[in-house]
Amino acid sequence: MIVLKSLKEIERMRAPCTIVAEVLQRVVESVSPGITTLELNSIAEKEVAKRKAKPAFRGYSGYPCSLCCSLNDQVVHGIPSNNPLKDGDILSLDFGAFYDGFFGDAAVTVAVGSVSKSAANLMSVTEQSLALAIEQAFQGNKLSDIASAVQVFVESNGYSVVRDFVGHGIGRNLHEQPQIPNYGQPHKGPTLRVGMVLAIEPMVNEKSFEVKVLADGWTAVTLDGGLSAHFEHTVAIMENGPEILTMI
Ligand code: MF3
Ligand code: CO
Repeated sequence: MIVLKSLKEIERMRAPCTIVAEVLQRVVESVSPGITTLELNSIAEKEVAKRKAKPAFRGYSGYPCSLCCSLNDQVVHGIPSNNPLKDGDILSLDFGAFYDGFFGDAAVTVAVGSVSKSAANLMSVTEQSLALAIEQAFQGNKLSDIASAVQVFVESNGYSVVRDFVGHGIGRNLHEQPQIPNYGQPHKGPTLRVGMVLAIEPMVNEKSFEVKVLADGWTAVTLDGGLSAHFEHTVAIMENGPEILTMI
C-alpha cells in the first residue's frame, strides 16, 4: 500500500529533509584527500545531533554507522572505515534523518581532489538522470515513467543502471511502498498521486550493471571493478508537480 501524505504531513517532512541536506552539505565540505570516512561519519553524527534529529541508518537492519560512504567501485551501503581518502577518488555519501515522526533521505557523489574526466562525466550523468527522473514525478504519470527516464538517459550516455537496488516511498518509515526501480518500460505500474513522497535514487555504473555484496553483508560493489555513482533526493508530488524536499 502506498501511503499518501496530507499537505500538513508534507510540511512536517520538510524538517528531516532539510536536516539531511544540511548534514550532507557539511560532510561534502569536509571531503578532501586524507580524511577518513569514519571521520565523515562523525561529522554527520555531530551535525544531525545539533539539529535534534536522529540518524536514520544506524541500527537499521544492523547497519553499524549513520552515513553510507561508497568509494569508487562501491555502489551503495559502503561502511565508513579508517582508510584515508585519496586524490582522484569518487565518494558516494548517503544520509537519512528522523525528526518529528518522519524520515528524510538523500545521497550525492563527490570528487575527492581532482578526478579523471571519465569519473566526472559518470557523476554528472548520474546527477542529470536524477533530475530527469524527478521531472517525471507528477500526478497522473505512471511510476515506471521515472525508471524509464533514468534508463534511457543513462544508457544513451554509455553507462548502465544498477538493477539490484531501488528507490522507495518514504514518510513515517524510511522504506515504504512503492519500490522505485531505475530501469524499465514507461507507462507501467501505479499512477502517481498528489501526496506521494518518493526517495528517488539512481545508481549508475561505468561498465556492467552487475553488482555483488561483500562479506561484510553491506558493501555493494561493481562486479567488473568499474566506477559507480549515486544521487538521491526525497521528492513530494504536489498539485503543481514535484518538489524536492532535500534541498537547502
Ligand atoms: N538510501 C539508502 C536506502 O534507502 C540507504 C539505506 S542504508 C541502511 O536504502 F543502512 F539504512 F540500510
Ligand atoms: Co534511500
